[in-house]
Amino acid sequence: MSGTVNVSGSIRRRLLLQLVGSAALLAALLFFAVLGFVRNVAEESHDRILLASASSILDSVSVQSGEITADIPYAALSMLGNVSDDRVFYRITTAGRLLTGYADLPVGRSTGQVAQPLFQTAEYKQESIRVVTLSRRLAVSGAPVLVQVSVAQTRTGQDVQLSQLFRSALYLGVAFFLLASALAYWSAQSSITPLRALTAAISRRGPKDLRPVTRPVPSEMAPLVASLNTFISRLQTSLSRSEDFIAEAAHRVRTPLATVRTQAEVMLMRVDKEANRVGLREMIRAIDESSRAAGQLLDHAMVSFRTDSLEQDDINLTDLARELADRLQPVAEMKEITLHFAAETDVRACGDGILIQNAVRNILDNAIKYSPQDSQVWIRVETGDGLARITVEDQAGGFGKEDTEALTQRFVRGANARDTIGSGLGLTIAREVAEAHAGQLLIKNSETGAGACVTLCFPAP
Ligand SMILES: Nc1ncnc2c1ncn2[C@@H]1O[C@H](COP(=O)(O)OP(=O)(O)OP(=O)(O)O)[C@@H](O)[C@H]1O
Ligand SMILES: [Mg+2]
Repeated sequence: MSGTVNVSGSIRRRLLLQLVGSAALLAALLFFAVLGFVRNVAEESHDRILLASASSILDSVSVQSGEITADIPYAALSMLGNVSDDRVFYRITTAGRLLTGYADLPVGRSTGQVAQPLFQTAEYKQESIRVVTLSRRLAVSGAPVLVQVSVAQTRTGQDVQLSQLFRSALYLGVAFFLLASALAYWSAQSSITPLRALTAAISRRGPKDLRPVTRPVPSEMAPLVASLNTFISRLQTSLSRSEDFIAEAAHRVRTPLATVRTQAEVMLMRVDKEANRVGLREMIRAIDESSRAAGQLLDHAMVSFRTDSLEQDDINLTDLARELADRLQPVAEMKEITLHFAAETDVRACGDGILIQNAVRNILDNAIKYSPQDSQVWIRVETGDGLARITVEDQAGGFGKEDTEALTQRFVRGANARDTIGSGLGLTIAREVAEAHAGQLLIKNSETGAGACVTLCFPAP
């Protein structure tokens, strides 16, 4: 039995989205943190080389014969060339006058504090440059003179280096994101594993298996399993009550009716007056009607109840049909009806034996009930086309112009049933049993046209 489930979202998808979202955020943070850190480190190391170059130039400035001279060492500028192919500029001023180098090199106002380097980023000759300025006081003819050395380098190499670092940080961020997403998928998947295992364990159960769930589950699922167990136990109580009720009701209704019927028959034998005899006969018929109706109603309730949780037993249809034919033989003999039984050996079906027996009994009961005296009824059990079939054919005149589909509805009886006791539930029971077993009830007139041919089909196991 499958029911529609009102689904709202998915825990796994929600969890996955949250985890992947967090992974994306962390990957972006990691990217910016790494990029900021390596950029600082690169700039600082570049600045240190610029400073070393400027210090080395400043050290080369000296006073000779009362004149300030600068003998720039080769290494001072070549150390910058080692870092990249960027262009290098310098400027040396003494007391604000250019001693050597590029006069227009943009340098900021020095702090005036000697030995305190000043770093700046500026535009020079349409290129971005990094400049460091260092100052030192020299004594010329006993007077202090401020010597200022500025060294600058274009930043192309640094930009290339930074873009490489940017790429590395990006790769790191993307790799982190991919790894974290894979872990997120795995953890989302594994977080619902206990739920799946529980669902599979419950789905695997047979229709009658109403044991409480005892398998270990995570604490978050404990309230769900506890509620499920409570529900199962309530269902079990209610089912066994219904089963008991059906059996009890059948017993309570049929037994007193049978007693009343016996009493009425005894009375009928004793009474001579015709008017009383007619009354008693009507009474017996009414009792038969009530008894049949009660029996069929209870049988129908039992069928509905059992089809809800269908047993899947291996049923030998040949034996089942033969047993029923034997049981109904005395009823048939009362009408001098001959039952012919023709069956393949061991025709099998999978299902509920009680239900199938009930369905066949109703079909056979109809054949005997509606057949005239001294007629024939054939019972055949056979297989073919992937089906196991029980067919009952009679000489009762068939269904005529009746809508055979309608005759399988509850309480619908045909025109030929007017003088026969019945409640219109026999074919309904047979159809419901066939359908519950994924089979079919086929109703037609027999090929000779003398009667009905009713077949119960079940899928062969
Ligand atoms: N073998 C048959 N031959 C002729 N008519 C039949 C046959 N079987 C069923 N019918 C017709 O189909 C109707 C429905 O049959 P169904 O078995 O459902 O009800 P019922 O026999 O009237 O009552 P009950 O519930 O007691 O069996 C019958 O009333 C009868 O008219
Ligand atoms: Mg019937």
